[in-house]
Amino acid sequence: MTSPPASQMTSSPATSSPATTKPEKDQPRPGDKLHAEPYMLPVQPPPLPESPTPQEIAELSEEVRELAKQKNAVILAHNYQVPEIQDVADYTGDSLGLSIEAARTSAERIVFCGVHFMAETAKILSPEKTVLIPDTRAGCSLADGITAQQVRDWKAENPDALVVMYVNTTAEVKAETDYCVTSSNAVAVVNAIPRDREILFGPDMFLGSYVEKITKRPMKVWMGECHVHAGIRPADMQKMLDDHPQADLMIHPECGCSTSAMEYLACGDIDPDRTYILSTGGMIEHVKQSDAPEFIVATEEGIFHPLRKAAPGRTFIPATEDAVCGFMKTITLRGLRDALREDKYHVEVAPQIAERARVPIERMISITD
Ligand code: 13P
Ligand code: SF4
Repeated sequence: MTSPPASQMTSSPATSSPATTKPEKDQPRPGDKLHAEPYMLPVQPPPLPESPTPQEIAELSEEVRELAKQKNAVILAHNYQVPEIQDVADYTGDSLGLSIEAARTSAERIVFCGVHFMAETAKILSPEKTVLIPDTRAGCSLADGITAQQVRDWKAENPDALVVMYVNTTAEVKAETDYCVTSSNAVAVVNAIPRDREILFGPDMFLGSYVEKITKRPMKVWMGECHVHAGIRPADMQKMLDDHPQADLMIHPECGCSTSAMEYLACGDIDPDRTYILSTGGMIEHVKQSDAPEFIVATEEGIFHPLRKAAPGRTFIPATEDAVCGFMKTITLRGLRDALREDKYHVEVAPQIAERARVPIERMISITD
């Protein structure tokens, strides 16, 4: 893996991001349109909200479904959302699946239960639609790890290179990008780029390292990371494998252990027939067709809900107990109900940025289709 020049290296995104949090009084109010001045996303994940009771879940879910019908809204939810949000959504999936669904929906409104860059991607693909996000604090530490100016500077130092960016980036960064990728198609997209072209890959260093190993193609990789996945370390994975010899090991490529998993695989230290590096959607597909009795899962804890639904009766073991994305968990049923009822919070992307940002996303979708 090659690092960007020191001038462009990011330190921990959770603390070094240029983004700032608006004071409480400046937070958007119900009904705010936010066209002129988009809200700023927080750098640190907010505290986790209280869980609703089963009765609240039943009542709020009914209200949500009714409002969605009245407002001609489709509810899209990421696999890391809390179970009650996944259950009330029209479609649940990984970043790629959600982008495809956002592009193809005929609904007038998209209510995005995920993080801001995902909702922005939906807006970029469907600029004529209203895109709402139920909580303005739903940021992403990985997306915070690189700015459009940093990409421009990196390109200026590498004028012949193509820029390949993980979809976990802002619209402004996508506007500077040649190809977007998600965890489920990064290898296919990089393989589709002529081998003689140099690649600047960002912002996730673990995904970048994984792609380099699979494609056998050196790239310049940005040193960004997701605070949740970077915390899933090789020691967690090794202990789990020792304790559960019958289990399949499923690792999200953003994890801090994915790089060492690749190395262990290459050296024969872990069984290649039991180890899978997969997107969240890939994990769900894997458990449907595997006959393993147990699965060790290295990603954010929201994934356990769709995994249990996909393969009931099997045992799912978290590689680490504290892999929780506080940004994803800002979305609650109550917040979703209010978003539908009060038509908030609007996700907007300036048309000149959206036009440029659409190009790498559409390239990615066309390679994956
Ligand atoms: P997936 O595309 O695999 O769902 O990952 C998205 C994400 O944000 C992982 O942290
Ligand atoms: Fe971003 Fe990490 Fe949360 Fe995914 S898990 S949304 S990469 S902060």
